[in-house]
Amino acid sequence: MANQLCIVLDFGGQYNQLIARRVRECGVYCEIKSYQTPLEEIKALAPDGIIFTGGPNSVYDESSPHIYKEIFELGIPILGICYGCQLMAYTLGGEVSSCVKSEYGKIEINQTGGLLFKDVPQKNVVWMSHTDFVSKLPEGFKVTAATDDCPCAAFENPEKKLYSVQFHPEVTHSEYGKQILHNFLYEVCGFKGDWVMDDFIDTTVAKLREQIGDKKVILGLSGGVDSSVAAGLLSRAVGKQLTCVFVDQGLMRKDEGDFVEQTFTKLFDMNFVRVNCKEQFLKALKGVTDPEQKRKIIGTEFYNVFWDKIREEGDGGFFAQGTIYPDRIESGKGNKSGNGSTATIKTHHNMVERPADIQFDGVIEPLGDLFKDEVRAVGEKLGIPHDLVWRQPFPGPGLGVRILGEITEDKIKVLQEADAVFRDEIRKSGIEDQLKQFFAVLPDVRTVGVMGDHRTYDHLIAIRAITTDDFMTADWARIPFDILAKVSNRLTNEVEHVNRVVYDITSKPPGTVEWE
Ligand code: XMP
Repeated sequence: MANQLCIVLDFGGQYNQLIARRVRECGVYCEIKSYQTPLEEIKALAPDGIIFTGGPNSVYDESSPHIYKEIFELGIPILGICYGCQLMAYTLGGEVSSCVKSEYGKIEINQTGGLLFKDVPQKNVVWMSHTDFVSKLPEGFKVTAATDDCPCAAFENPEKKLYSVQFHPEVTHSEYGKQILHNFLYEVCGFKGDWVMDDFIDTTVAKLREQIGDKKVILGLSGGVDSSVAAGLLSRAVGKQLTCVFVDQGLMRKDEGDFVEQTFTKLFDMNFVRVNCKEQFLKALKGVTDPEQKRKIIGTEFYNVFWDKIREEGDGGFFAQGTIYPDRIESGKGNKSGNGSTATIKTHHNMVERPADIQFDGVIEPLGDLFKDEVRAVGEKLGIPHDLVWRQPFPGPGLGVRILGEITEDKIKVLQEADAVFRDEIRKSGIEDQLKQFFAVLPDVRTVGVMGDHRTYDHLIAIRAITTDDFMTADWARIPFDILAKVSNRLTNEVEHVNRVVYDITSKPPGTVEWE
């Protein structure tokens, strides 16, 4: 049976995905749709609730995203957030004005009741970010919360099941934000909470079995979280009908290829094909120093090997990939030309065009509806090891973008060893959970050092550790000096050919996370 559905109507706000994730955390399945989704389509989807997101615009600006009035007449409960709140008021005949004083950051609200605020203290702190506010309510609405500078911080028309909040309940800075969303979903919309990861596994496995029948499925396994969890699900569904192709180009971290192989051959029922092609990659990369060219060669070689292997396995059957929901969402931002009615499938960031001579009966994306946190939850339930499920991002070109200049076998070895020592020390120090990504880089610089009575002239290792929410911006992590000291000590003592260590203290921007 299909899950109950909540629709998050996207007006271009920066938190649209966060709203959807929070709704799902409340046990309610939801999808993000463009604000231009036609009324007929919304009716056909028959959601039990709709949420309007925020957005950067002003409702009086003609080019701003607007909404047809009829949506308020469907009898489906609606929650407007920030811009969505102003849009609800404006569309139904209220007024929106510029704030005398913009509200930004944590602000205390005073709530006066209503279903949205069930079990929420009268005074509580929320996250505000607005320069316009609702200055006159439409008919039939009443204020349910205010701040010192915003008289309509929340308002409602319970008869019509229309609710609005000027603040952002989806961000963690809003103390009772999750409770407020929960109240909307359960008290107002009457959701039952049928989005549960155990059920997801059972229903997906059943669906996959039906779709695949007795055909075969092929999946490119990178060792990353998404393709690993997709492999786990497919293995549970069709066992040996699944073949996973794992291309080891020799640019993975120390022992990583063996770890992936052991995990999937020991824990899961499937055909696991590992293609070791380090030599082929090193040959193609010989003498190449330009970062973009290196990336291109690594990408092209990877897919040459991959498609060749698939040709060997024979045509037909299904092609599976680990695409996840954020890969498929089209933002509502500036979305004026598209019809906005369905999410356009974007090319998966790690996928390339399939050669014309390779034919499949169809493409399967078993994780296409899940956010990353949900993929991880499914992975854990399937018994995929913690280290794989919580693996930090690792670029497709692997260590290739962390060895500056020409890539050689010796340099790969130095970097793999150095990276393993750094990661081991971070794990032991207990700060791993505070870092989003941490790794070693080999900048291809040699420096003079001294060891015993001897002068050395050897490699410099750079270490990088960042904190970030979304990898679009990042800050360098303030690793305590004593931990850095231990790392430096171990790197110069334990890793052959390393005689100097530097810590990268560049944020993004202006730096990027990777060095190439
Ligand atoms: P940058 O260096 O762009 O990295 O600040 C942002 C995030 O993306 C990862 N990254 C890549 N991932 N292929 C990938 O699959 C790549 O070519 C690539 N380059 C960077 C990087 O590790 C970080 O998490």
